[in-house]
Amino acid sequence: MKIKACLFDLDGVVVDTARYHYIAWKRIADQLGFYFSELDNEKLKGVSRMESLDILLRVGKKEVDIKTREELAILKNSYYLSFIQSMTPGEILPGVIEFLDELRNNGILIGLGSASKNSLLILDKLNIREKFDVVIDGNKVSNAKPDPEVFLNGAAELGVSPSDCLVFEDAQAGIDAARNGGMHCIGIGNPEYLKNADFVIPGFLKMDLDQIKSWYS
Ligand code: BG6
Ligand code: MG
Repeated sequence: MKIKACLFDLDGVVVDTARYHYIAWKRIADQLGFYFSELDNEKLKGVSRMESLDILLRVGKKEVDIKTREELAILKNSYYLSFIQSMTPGEILPGVIEFLDELRNNGILIGLGSASKNSLLILDKLNIREKFDVVIDGNKVSNAKPDPEVFLNGAAELGVSPSDCLVFEDAQAGIDAARNGGMHCIGIGNPEYLKNADFVIPGFLKMDLDQIKSWYS
């Protein structure tokens, strides 16, 4: 395989936003009168905002009408936005910048494929928007991961066939999305929890392109 493009998930791959999502969702759970644990929060990784809310409501055994559901999603996002306002480039996960620069220097195209509707804001806070040739975020897709739409759109905009794309993902739904799109995929995190990736790495520290090319040669 010749890697022509790398597609990156944002949350949990480029930056660790999971704790901000968690605190925001926990505040909603607190207001609704039930406990939402960090373990429960794991179920929300890679999942869209509205699906996350549905999972949260199931955990709390709460049923709400459509209007309340919309209001809760807006409220959660307002909490989340208040946390990420103060985000800085120092929060970019170790090795990410070096790896992105190495890809660029080697002529490999770079895309972002994220469920988050806040992707552009976060990329700007981290000052790395220009490192991506294309950004496909939650505002641009109608089908959430594990549907491959976000990655297929990224590949199409880059003009690269899915089989020449390598996806980096920290969530099972994202790995499944890459697979469903016929792409190669490297998981970021713990191999015990991430299934069906070609390889699973802890992060980008000490990772370089030669290493990855050797895995796919
Ligand atoms: C994903 C996160 O990247 O984006 C999920 O892993 C989150 O936890 C989803 O729910 C949607 O994010 P946002 O910023 O649009 O609420
Ligand atoms: Mg993620």
